[in-house]
Amino acid sequence: DGLHSLMVKAGKMYFGTAADVNSFNDTEYMAIMSNKNDFGMITAENSNKWDETEAVQGDFTFTKADRVVAKAKQNGQMMRCHTLVWHKGLPSWGNLAFSPCVMILLPPGCADSLPYSAVADSAWTNETLIAVMETHITNVVTHFKGICYAWHVVNEAIEDIYNPGYRETVFSKVIGGDYIPIAFSAAAAADKDAKLYYTDYGLESMTEKLNAALIIVDDIQSRGIRIDGVGLQGHNIVGATPSRASLGETLRNFTALGLEVAWTEVEIRHGQLPPNETALQQQAQDYAAIVGSCLDVKECVGVTIWQFTDKYNWVPQSLPGEGDACLWSAEYQRRPAYDAILDLL
Ligand code: XIL
Repeated sequence: DGLHSLMVKAGKMYFGTAADVNSFNDTEYMAIMSNKNDFGMITAENSNKWDETEAVQGDFTFTKADRVVAKAKQNGQMMRCHTLVWHKGLPSWGNLAFSPCVMILLPPGCADSLPYSAVADSAWTNETLIAVMETHITNVVTHFKGICYAWHVVNEAIEDIYNPGYRETVFSKVIGGDYIPIAFSAAAAADKDAKLYYTDYGLESMTEKLNAALIIVDDIQSRGIRIDGVGLQGHNIVGATPSRASLGETLRNFTALGLEVAWTEVEIRHGQLPPNETALQQQAQDYAAIVGSCLDVKECVGVTIWQFTDKYNWVPQSLPGEGDACLWSAEYQRRPAYDAILDLL
């Protein structure tokens, strides 16, 4: 038995991992990724993103994502699809991507009335940007109809550094906070079966950010638009991961609103490399806390890790000096955290 098969025995839907075509010719990688005992759910790490699916406006390409789908299908694995509207992974056309600066807001809706200078450098209007977003969502969701257990419709929409309001993106600037319910409405129209999720990081450690996420959920629900779940990404730091009980409390904030929840991008990095034995044991405990919180909350469907090996995990590139965050090392050795999860199940 492995991570997935034991999760299923524990009453959950899956244990999963992010994976993508960049590692598909690594045979050792593929052997582990394709082992359904460990992984019953796959999330394409990048290939479903806007820059990959609509690199040229109106010209949709699914070559890479389709290869991930084919592999998952071959392995009998389900898929979570990631992501439709995000401030990163955007194409170069239309000046959609720009460096976010701070926008003070809350509750949703106030974005529409705030004056921001940066709007001036965008040629988009409310109407044209909504149309572009809806066209993107409709085409991408329609292509993957029947394949995605869930769509991460809007990802990381909340600013966390200075104020827990809407992150300043071209979407929040031009459309205002309404872009979120509009995105969910478009996704719901394109696929009535896929679960529609809001996903973000830090909800388990930043109370104000958690509250902002709850407001976003309420904003969608109160308009009668469908949202089925919230995904907590779970990018965490060894020794700074909240306890199992505290993580369960965080999840219950969302299940109380009638939603399901999932851990969608878990990896727990060491701030200092290389980790000593104590740090590896702490990492094991932190992984167990996250998986344990999912076991504790009935509406938590499963846990996905953001790559299973450090060989392809994004942390060393984005946070130089940190890493060793995965259940398998770069040399495909299992870390104590792997066994700690099995022990829990
Ligand atoms: C990351 C990928 O892992 C990298 O390969 C890519 O270069 C950038 O994006 N939150 C998310 C994910 O929602 O999509 C991000 O994935 C990690 C942070």
